[in-house]
Amino acid sequence: MTSELATRVTQADRGAIGLAADCLARGGLVAFPTETVYGLGADAANGEAIARLYAAKGRPSFNPLIAHVADIAQAEECAEFDATAKQLAAAFWPGPLTLVLPKRPACRISELATAGLDTIALRAPDHHVAQDILEAFGRPIVAPSANRSGHVSPTIAGHVLADLRGRIDLIVNGGPTSIGVESTIVACRAGRVVMLRPGGVAREAIERLLGRALDADTEGLAAESPESTAPIAPGMLSSHYAPRTPMRLDASSVRPGEALLAFGPARVAGADEAAAILNLSERGDVIEAAANLFAHLRHLDGMGASCIAVAPVPNEGLGEAINDRLRRAAARSLPDH
Ligand code: TXA
Ligand code: MG
Repeated sequence: MTSELATRVTQADRGAIGLAADCLARGGLVAFPTETVYGLGADAANGEAIARLYAAKGRPSFNPLIAHVADIAQAEECAEFDATAKQLAAAFWPGPLTLVLPKRPACRISELATAGLDTIALRAPDHHVAQDILEAFGRPIVAPSANRSGHVSPTIAGHVLADLRGRIDLIVNGGPTSIGVESTIVACRAGRVVMLRPGGVAREAIERLLGRALDADTEGLAAESPESTAPIAPGMLSSHYAPRTPMRLDASSVRPGEALLAFGPARVAGADEAAAILNLSERGDVIEAAANLFAHLRHLDGMGASCIAVAPVPNEGLGEAINDRLRRAAARSLPDH
């Protein structure tokens, strides 16, 4: 049993940045905003802090974590960057792209954070609060999404508090996150670039930069990443984003007692009978929809509906990440799981 902590919540001002850096240096757990979702940060070199982080999240296994860095120079101390990795970091950092790269032997990041793999996931976040904390701390910070395992990722400080109050030291409140889905994860190995998780950078944007299609995952790299594109089935770790209310995807109508998660301006048949309706984006914009996704899911989950019917979302741009998260949530929320 771990004893309950007094979780402090503070607005993201200059004092909060110093407080966060001191707390991390003492092995504490600090939630802070990034442009994608709120992260739960720990000192990447402190194995004990990372063990407490897994316990706070209630993660069933030591899933590898993303190390957040201030810039490419700090990332290059931890991993081997080939020409493609350099090109991707130069184009998309700071931003919602995570690179999985060969770990350098000299890398001081805890083996627990990388779950013993010979690769490491790195990203430079594009959010001034995350950047200020990274600068004040001076070293990489590992940060999974700041939710209890099995819950949807937090896009406001209130979501973090609801999940982790009494389990972490500090929450830095920097308002709602702008992108709303997690980073895109790609692995770069031997000239190949494989997407492990769709996210805040669209596949099309990466392919445009590289001038070619991403490589197929013939080596099963995504299998190293239980939350990514592994086969989706109820009860598997891949079903990570989960409201308690069952979900029905690609719904063209709403049944009485169901809540509706709508997309776009079209009226959905039966909407008058819905227990509640939220629209991801009235104007049918996938970027706006991504920003609303997790907050809307949490909200509808609290309405006591029999089921959440979800209207179809196009699979273009950030739509790929939205549909990925929706499938995982639906797999997890099947009635017998
Ligand atoms: O936007 C984001 O990426 C957020 C913010 C806080 O940065 N973080 C986030 O972290 O989503 P998390 O822990 O919820 O998801 C990280 C994913 C997991 O699926 C993990 O398995 C994968 O990254 N991962 C980490 N290291 C890896 C590695 N070496 N190889 C393959 N997958 C890895
Ligand atoms: Mg997560």
